[in-house]
Amino acid sequence: MQQSDQIYWLSTIECWWLRPRISISPRRSGLILRLNEQVDVRVSVVKPRMMNFGENAGQNFRVFNSRCLVLLIALFLIPLRLLAWGSVGHQTIAALAEKQLTPKAQVQINALLAQEPGSTLASISTWADERKNPTTARWHFLNFPRDSCSYDKARDCPDGNCVTSAIDRQLEVLKSSAPDAQKLQALKYLVHFVGDLHQPLHLGYLDDKGGNKYQIQAYKRGSNLHSLWDSGLIKYVSDDSDVWVTRLSSKPLPMRVNVIDPVRIAEESCRIVATPGFYPDRKVEGPYVDRWTPVMEQQLQLGGARLARILNGVLLSP
Ligand code: ADE
Ligand code: ZN
Ligand code: ZN
Repeated sequence: MQQSDQIYWLSTIECWWLRPRISISPRRSGLILRLNEQVDVRVSVVKPRMMNFGENAGQNFRVFNSRCLVLLIALFLIPLRLLAWGSVGHQTIAALAEKQLTPKAQVQINALLAQEPGSTLASISTWADERKNPTTARWHFLNFPRDSCSYDKARDCPDGNCVTSAIDRQLEVLKSSAPDAQKLQALKYLVHFVGDLHQPLHLGYLDDKGGNKYQIQAYKRGSNLHSLWDSGLIKYVSDDSDVWVTRLSSKPLPMRVNVIDPVRIAEESCRIVATPGFYPDRKVEGPYVDRWTPVMEQQLQLGGARLARILNGVLLSP
């Protein structure tokens, strides 16, 4: 879901000391490695001009195997920590929600979390990204057409593989008499997906993959718009979710916090993306950051408060 700054420099490393050499770079010819839904890294294996098929060939390949394999494994692993709202966004929303639970909801959540001692709503909030696979990847977003933010199930989510339907399914499990292990999994998904629902670009457009394909220069560093909204804007203020929770807990909540229907929230996020100026002129610096940071903050705040209201509404007993 993102090409973060960190991934950018990692992805431009070239193992050029190796023969044959492997070059890993964004947007060049070669095999596209899909690290997750946000990151495309192209890997091209370049034949050396004079390929040595003699005695050293095996050794060269061994070097390739050991060094470049480590690099490739690192490339695959690192982005997993940097997904969706990014961990800071998800953890902030989950921690804010935890503070707004009713005693009944808190008791039930504690009972589910007790299956994994030490876990909290914040600690489980990024599990869904770690577990992402081709089947579940589409549960994290929904695309609207460019000319409408009115949800149409037949058009926007015909097969139920989108974030709004995924949320509905988790709520059904939580309300049911399913085994606790299944309910804990539903809780992990729900906490994460309600977060994703508040990242405007998870409700963006298919043609640029929710801004993943909209390249930008943020303070002179290459990135893309999706990544900026997942984590960049958040981290310009703070990369510590405790700081965010303190900052946002004291802010008054807007009235629309009571809108908790996932479809209505999805439409609201779509309208943010459709606002003039949301797509920057490629260069992202002070003016864009100053204009949109308050919107991002409100989305985190609403995400936390609505997640609490959704959980309070579904976990009513004992
Ligand atoms: N992640 C991958 N594809 C996406 C899309 N089309 N919209 C939003 N997020 C995405
Ligand atoms: Zn994302
Ligand atoms: Zn996600």
